[in-house]
Amino acid sequence: MDEIKVPKGLTNVIVDQTAIATTDATGNLLYRGYKVAALVDHSDFESTAYLVVNGRMPDNAERKDFIDSLRKYYGVSEQVQEVISILKEKDLMRSLRSLVSLYPYQNTESDKLMLEMAAKFPEFISLSYRLANGLKPLSPIDGTFTERFYHLITGKIDPEKARHVGMLMILYMEHEFNASTFALRVTASTLADPISAFTTALATLKGPLHGGANSEILDFFNKFKDGDEAVKYVDEQIAKGEKVMGFGHRIYKRLDPRAQQVKAKLKEIAGDSKVLQIAEAVENRMWERKSIPANLDFYAAIYMDTLGISQDFYTPLFAASRVFGWIAHYKEQLVGNKLIRPSSEYSGPTGLKL
Ligand code: COA
Repeated sequence: MDEIKVPKGLTNVIVDQTAIATTDATGNLLYRGYKVAALVDHSDFESTAYLVVNGRMPDNAERKDFIDSLRKYYGVSEQVQEVISILKEKDLMRSLRSLVSLYPYQNTESDKLMLEMAAKFPEFISLSYRLANGLKPLSPIDGTFTERFYHLITGKIDPEKARHVGMLMILYMEHEFNASTFALRVTASTLADPISAFTTALATLKGPLHGGANSEILDFFNKFKDGDEAVKYVDEQIAKGEKVMGFGHRIYKRLDPRAQQVKAKLKEIAGDSKVLQIAEAVENRMWERKSIPANLDFYAAIYMDTLGISQDFYTPLFAASRVFGWIAHYKEQLVGNKLIRPSSEYSGPTGLKL
């Protein structure tokens, strides 16, 4: 059989088709054919999640049914609460990954099971945080998915801030064959169950080159008193050959449209603040020195900080949103499935004698 060599990291290699998301020729991210920028401005989290999972915008009755079916799965069993209180894991991605992998299920139909998991992610995240930090569990509120989520992660009720969280979660929801989704599709291609596929995806999302990046940005960003300090940091990182978290992307080499949209939303809530000036100083310096643009995670971290969300929740928030993309990809992979199993070029020794 003829073998094909592809670049390391599969850069620019098209490995399969998807009808879920793409970036068009002018750099717009599309979900199921709709511009994500328009979904952020004119739709909401629940309708966008329905769109991504089911392939079309819901009518009013379908939207209500979708919300009701998520609501049915809200709450955490005593058994799961007990596991969380034993784990007491402060790293919420570790906790989420463990809880998902341990989730008890039997013969549940996979579409229902995946929706159940998506509904549970916010509960797992909130309860893990609270029990690991000696806080009482919150009594959940009624309201939209994102109002409830905002309350679960901050303990506060604030529909306006929750609306902003919803906009950010729409931007985080889907991104075709990103690393965690591709990992999930590899697992799905073996015909493993959705729980195994989500565990793979969560483990992959956690890494700092992917979803873990957003939780590292404030570590350096909040130390800057002004733009000059930010520029100095960028120069030092480059001199050391180190990366600046929140910059660079496999697909967006000139501009990440999602980052620019979050920046615009940040301007709406923070005005032309010092935070924004410092962020722009980092962005401009990275462009001057390396021609590398800010990615979604850079502005998302600053946005979440401005919305009063603790850093512990940044990557978990990404997961709680991306899980709807994972559902769509799990289902898509199983249509005309083929096991994903590439080959490798051997570079080790041969002919060794015992
Ligand atoms: N800071 C400094 N330099 C960076 C950089 C960053 N954030 N991202 C990429 N570069 C540089 C690399 O050092 C490399 O330089 P070289 O050619 O001189 O060796 C070049 O740009 C290409 O980078 P590479 O890592 O090969 O590109 P990629 O497409 O494989 O990587 C990322 C994409 C996202 C993994 C990479 O940009 C990165 O590590 N960013 C930081 C982590 C991050 O924010 N992740 C979230 C992604 S949404």
